[in-house]
Amino acid sequence: MSGAKANNSISGDRGAAAAEMLNLLEELSCYTRKDAGAEAGVTRVLYSPEWAEAQRFLMKRMEAFGLCTYADSVGNIYGRLEGVHAGPVVLSGSHIDTVMNGGKYDGAYGVAAAVTALHYLKQTYGPPLRSLEAVSFAEEEGSRFPLTFWGSGNVTGLYNEEMASQYKDQEGITLKEAMLGHNLGEQKGLAFRQDVAAYVELHIEQGMVLEQSGTQIGVVEAITGQRRASVTIKGRANHAGTTPMGMRKDALAAAAEMVLAIEAAALKQGDPLVATVGKLEVMPNTSNVIPGEVCFSLDIRHPGEDVLKAFCMDLERIFAEISATRGVLVELKHSLQAASSRMDPGLCRELSTICSRRGLTWRRMVSGAGHDAQLFAPSSKAAMIFVPSREGISHAPEEFTSPEELVAGLEVLIELLYKLGYEEEAEEAGV
Ligand code: HGY
Ligand code: MN
Ligand code: MN
Repeated sequence: MSGAKANNSISGDRGAAAAEMLNLLEELSCYTRKDAGAEAGVTRVLYSPEWAEAQRFLMKRMEAFGLCTYADSVGNIYGRLEGVHAGPVVLSGSHIDTVMNGGKYDGAYGVAAAVTALHYLKQTYGPPLRSLEAVSFAEEEGSRFPLTFWGSGNVTGLYNEEMASQYKDQEGITLKEAMLGHNLGEQKGLAFRQDVAAYVELHIEQGMVLEQSGTQIGVVEAITGQRRASVTIKGRANHAGTTPMGMRKDALAAAAEMVLAIEAAALKQGDPLVATVGKLEVMPNTSNVIPGEVCFSLDIRHPGEDVLKAFCMDLERIFAEISATRGVLVELKHSLQAASSRMDPGLCRELSTICSRRGLTWRRMVSGAGHDAQLFAPSSKAAMIFVPSREGISHAPEEFTSPEELVAGLEVLIELLYKLGYEEEAEEAGV
């Protein structure tokens, strides 16, 4: 067996690995939309110039770490540490894209940690028994195009590339045009793959549970289900001064009533259901014109598929009532149905053992945020590790996790990847 574990914990220069990961994370945060301004956090949306520069930067860094790199046809990039035995791989990483004016940890942390972990394992133990790959998924947030998980969704079969012409960004550029426009160099064919034995994702919690309970590591047991949609309301644009109130078909007033109805329905359903309208566009968006058309986003989450389904049907009924009363048209277009998913119980147990062995406080938890890991759970053994977010803030420039907390997560990741990549019993157990 290659490499021997010293005193039952990872040996080698872990300090160097920690510094390398923190440095990589800082460097990645510099790849942001140039006009965003320093106080505006990180903006790195799919197929943007800063997105391509970040992916190219990562490929170079992976090559410098002795990993074999390649990009697939949708722009996911991989760094592979070849195993002694052929066969399914152990994959670890996260997404490289961000929300608008987001933080520097969401996604990038899992990518930087996976790359650093493979570099450390290669240097300390040589080739693993089976191949380990670090991945930077092209897109997960849904910040530019009205769909999310475009990167891992193509790998796991949720999407295929032909669907790219169906989606347009706010400038009217199709996902297909944007995809063909980026250049990550040599691409190794279709994104879809069926050789992933296990997928491990390290991520900031983006909530307050770990910080408030004073816990260092979250062992994610399940990831909530998500529905995303866009709602378009068509009224009638008209003169703000000459149109009596009783003769209006005001699309924005109708939207406002619907937004409040969504909030009331979510409060009535109660935790853990959450419903958010994060984006709203008014046309023609002019102060002396009654809005003729409004389009808003809908983001609904709950761990239970049946609750999600019933809640969405309820909302459609409420929208129909409001639109009939106001004489406007309403159209709801679903853009995402990500099922809730359970992480692999065996890997959850292994993570809790690693944390206890390393003297780290840990707790099992459910993720209210969506993650690439939920797409891998049906076909691979999936595991997710959380570290605390300061005041639970995320998707904002104030997103922060301390270096000590980030390093604790890295050490747990390294231990799990060591187990999965270098230990026979894991290989024999088919994990
Ligand atoms: O929105 C989410 O749940 C994730 O951060 N993309
Ligand atoms: Mn994320
Ligand atoms: Mn996010």
